[in-house]
Amino acid sequence: MEGPQNSTHVSLVLLLLLLLLLGPAWQGAAQRCPQTCICDNSKRHVACRHQNLTEVPNTIPELTQRLDLQGNMLKVIPPAAFQELPYLTHLDLRHCQVELVAEGAFRGLGRLLLLNLGSNRLSALPQEALDGLGSLRRLELERNMLEELRPGTFGALGALATLNLAHNALVYLPAMAFQGLLRARWLQLSHNALSVLAPEALAGLPALRRLSLHHNELQALPGPALSQARGLARLELGHNPLTYAGEEDGLRPSPAWAAWCRCTCSTAASPSWKRAPWRGWAA
Ligand SMILES: *[C@@H]1O[C@H](CO)[C@@H](O)[C@H](O)[C@H]1NC(C)=O
Repeated sequence: MEGPQNSTHVSLVLLLLLLLLLGPAWQGAAQRCPQTCICDNSKRHVACRHQNLTEVPNTIPELTQRLDLQGNMLKVIPPAAFQELPYLTHLDLRHCQVELVAEGAFRGLGRLLLLNLGSNRLSALPQEALDGLGSLRRLELERNMLEELRPGTFGALGALATLNLAHNALVYLPAMAFQGLLRARWLQLSHNALSVLAPEALAGLPALRRLSLHHNELQALPGPALSQARGLARLELGHNPLTYAGEEDGLRPSPAWAAWCRCTCSTAASPSWKRAPWRGWAA
């Protein structure tokens, strides 16, 4: 009975040969990690924080899911900057002095769920800057210098649930500013300089439940815009220079607005307005 033994022997030798041949390559792939980064290959996390990097390191393991680049000096995110990292689900680019996100910068990141671009220097977003992010759930753009939003900017973000634009320099929201955000539930626009919302500014947001507009320059309730947000359950309006002409007892929403807004509303004078369905407002 030498036949089977021999073939087992041959198989073992082949397996050993295969391991010897593939071993170094496999090990290399597993251990590849840019010098300036810390890689946890079992969790597929890579962190390259506060390293003064001016570009995305090109030896990041391909299977990486979470990439933390906060506190670098990227300044520009060029087209397809992350195309070698198609498995990314979380990308942190906070505090990277980013002034420009090129068109198609995130192309290839179809699995990305969270993109944090907060605390950068963005004053505008090109029309196709966010293309390719069809799975994105949350986009953080707070603490930038955005002055305007072009209609269509967020058009590729059909899965987005939360958009944070707080602490920017927005003065005006144009019609269809948020077109395409079919699943957005929370829109954070606090700490801007908004004084005017176009009547159609909130059109195309069928899932919107919460709208944060506190710390802006609104002098009147943006009634026509709000009437577009039919599912709104929570509206934050504190710290706006709101005035309500014709109301005897001071700060109160206009009856027309109160009629549709079944929500918790807050202003500086009256931090928490609740309205029992189809009754009056109580402070
Ligand atoms: C980054 O640059 C600053 C200022 O030039 C320097 O003080 C700091 O040590 C640098 N950090 C690293 C990790 O090289």
